[in-house]
Amino acid sequence: MAEIIAGVGTSHVPAVGAAMDNGMTQDPIWAPYFDKVEPAREWIAKTKPDVCIIVYNDHASAFSLELIPTFVIGTAPSFIPADEGFGRRKVPTVQGHPDMAWHLAESLILAEFDMTIANKMDVDHGLTVPLSVMYNQPDEWPCKVIPLCVNVVQYPPPTGNRCFNLGRAIRAAVESFPGNERVVIFGTGGLSHQLQGERAGLINTEYDNAFLDRIVADPVAQSKISHTEYMREAGSEGIEMVMWLVMRGALDEHVDEIYRATHVPTSNTSNGLLILENSIN
Ligand code: DHB
Ligand code: FE
Repeated sequence: MAEIIAGVGTSHVPAVGAAMDNGMTQDPIWAPYFDKVEPAREWIAKTKPDVCIIVYNDHASAFSLELIPTFVIGTAPSFIPADEGFGRRKVPTVQGHPDMAWHLAESLILAEFDMTIANKMDVDHGLTVPLSVMYNQPDEWPCKVIPLCVNVVQYPPPTGNRCFNLGRAIRAAVESFPGNERVVIFGTGGLSHQLQGERAGLINTEYDNAFLDRIVADPVAQSKISHTEYMREAGSEGIEMVMWLVMRGALDEHVDEIYRATHVPTSNTSNGLLILENSIN
């Protein structure tokens, strides 16, 4: 049986990708953040997952206001980095896992989650930056990737509770896949940030730290938090934090916290990085 062995939570700030792409990681402004990333890279180099399921949001790159799917699963053999206005990131093409992705699509849809199936989709910073955070800049990504998008761009996004339950259903789906893949699931986005409007620049580290505590120790309580609370406390783009609940729902009730780092700010965002392992591993 395939198995989810761990979860990674990480922000997906585009400027982090740009700092890596432009050789700026040792600049004084970036070095303190990249120092904190190093233990996470060591962990994934040692853990060597076969597949990463990356839960992220598309930022009007593959989709637009013309088409707004709530949940999307990428079933293609490969996915190229999206051109978000500055050309495509020069990072490797993402290799998919169509067999597992189709199995997930079937299991999730029959479990009453209405997944949109994407047989062709460019992947934006929401997916490529977390890969860069964890794997640095290799010639090829060392794992297969199943992209899973959540709409957090256009109201109404799914509730935290639905995201958490989707995570549980993903776990059941992975465990019924006839393979022996070791899978790590990523929840990306957040932590607090607001990119526009009167409160642009908002960061709330106290709230972010409480979120990290609760996502580890009491995810059921965290899954009940309303959209309004996320937006009030963590800013309009803080709503991305619901995607971490998909990751958390796919893990055991009790998890081992392997690594946690926060850094304020990266670009406009309070940056979070969290690694959780199922206790039995
Ligand atoms: C920033 C953060 C994001 O999550 C994003 O999608 C775009 C920009 C930022 O902090 O600049
Ligand atoms: Fe984002």
